[in-house]
Amino acid sequence: MSVRRILKWSGLALLGFFGLVLLSMLSIHITMGRDIAATFAVDGELIVVPSDAASIEEGRRQAQLRGCFQGCHGRAAEGAVMIRLFDGTRVVAPNLGHIAARYSLEELERAIRRGVKPDGTSVLRIMPSEMLSTLSDEDLGRIIAWLRTQPEDSDELPDSRYGPVARIMGFVFKRQFGTVLAAEAITQEQLAPHGMSATIPRGRYLAETVCRECHGNDLHGTPDGSSPSLSMVTAYSRDDFETLMREGVAMGGRELGLMAVVSRSRFAHFTDDELNALYSYLNSVDSWFD
Ligand code: HEC
Repeated sequence: MSVRRILKWSGLALLGFFGLVLLSMLSIHITMGRDIAATFAVDGELIVVPSDAASIEEGRRQAQLRGCFQGCHGRAAEGAVMIRLFDGTRVVAPNLGHIAARYSLEELERAIRRGVKPDGTSVLRIMPSEMLSTLSDEDLGRIIAWLRTQPEDSDELPDSRYGPVARIMGFVFKRQFGTVLAAEAITQEQLAPHGMSATIPRGRYLAETVCRECHGNDLHGTPDGSSPSLSMVTAYSRDDFETLMREGVAMGGRELGLMAVVSRSRFAHFTDDELNALYSYLNSVDSWFD
C-alpha cells in the first residue's frame, strides 16, 4: 500500500472514531436531559405539623442530624451553590425557609420523602430522599415545623443546570452521582411503614435515616470504598463509638475526613439513648458477614 493510501485510510478511521465519540456524547446528553426533565405522578401525604416551641426545637435537632443545615443547603439552610463546573453545570441547594414557605404540606412531604418536586420532576439523587423516605411522620412533621420558622429571603440563588460534563459523569457513575432519579429508586416497600414501629427498632430507624446518605442503602458502604461498611462498628467498643460520633475521632485515635466533619456538626447532637440504640443495632445486623 502506498503511503498516500495509508494516510487516507487512517485519516478516515480517525474521523470515524471522533464521529462516533461525538454521537455517543450527544446521545448521552439527550438521554440524561430526558431523565432530568422526567415527571412522576406521585401524591404527597398530609402530615401533622406541630407548632409548640419544644417540637420546633426538636425539629431543628432532627434536621441537624440529617444535614439539612451546616451542609449542602448552607450554614443556616439559606441555600448554596454546591457545585460549579467549567461546562456551565451549577448544582444549587435551595433556601429551605423559602421552599417551606411556598410549598404546601403535601408538596413538602412529597419533595422530602418521595423525591418529587411540585412540578413533578425529581430532586435527583443529589438530595438524599432515599434516606429520608423512611423518616417517621412525627420527625418529618417536626422538621417541617422548624423549617417554617426559617427566614425566607436570601440572596437570589440561580436554578440548577447540568452541562455536558455533569451529564456524562451522571451516566457513567449512575450509582454515585446525580442523575439517577431519586423518585425511581424509592420503592413502596421503603415508604411503608414510615419510621419507627414495633418491628423497626430505633437503632435501625436512625441508621436508615441518618447514615444511609453516605454508607449506602444497605449500610455496606459505597462501591468505590470512600465510605466503609458500617460492619466496622462491630470492632468498636461503646466508648470508642461515642468518641467517633461526638468528636469525629476513629478507633485508635485516627483523624478522619468527611466523617469527622459530619460527626462534629451533626452526630454530636445524638442523645445518649440514641447512641445506645444505634450501637446495639449496628452490632446486631445479621447480614454483615454473609
Ligand atoms: C456525609 C457522609 C457521611 C454520613 C452521613 C455518615 N458517614 Fe460515616 N463515614 C463517612 C466517610 C467518608 C467515612 C470514611 C472516613 C472519612 O473519609 O472520613 C466514614 C467512616 C465511618 C466509620 C469508620 C471509622 C473508622 O474506624 O475508620 C464509621 C464506624 C462510620 N463512618 C459510622 C457512621 C455512622 C454510624 C453514621 C450514621 C450515624 C455515619 N457514619 C454517617 C461519611 C459519612
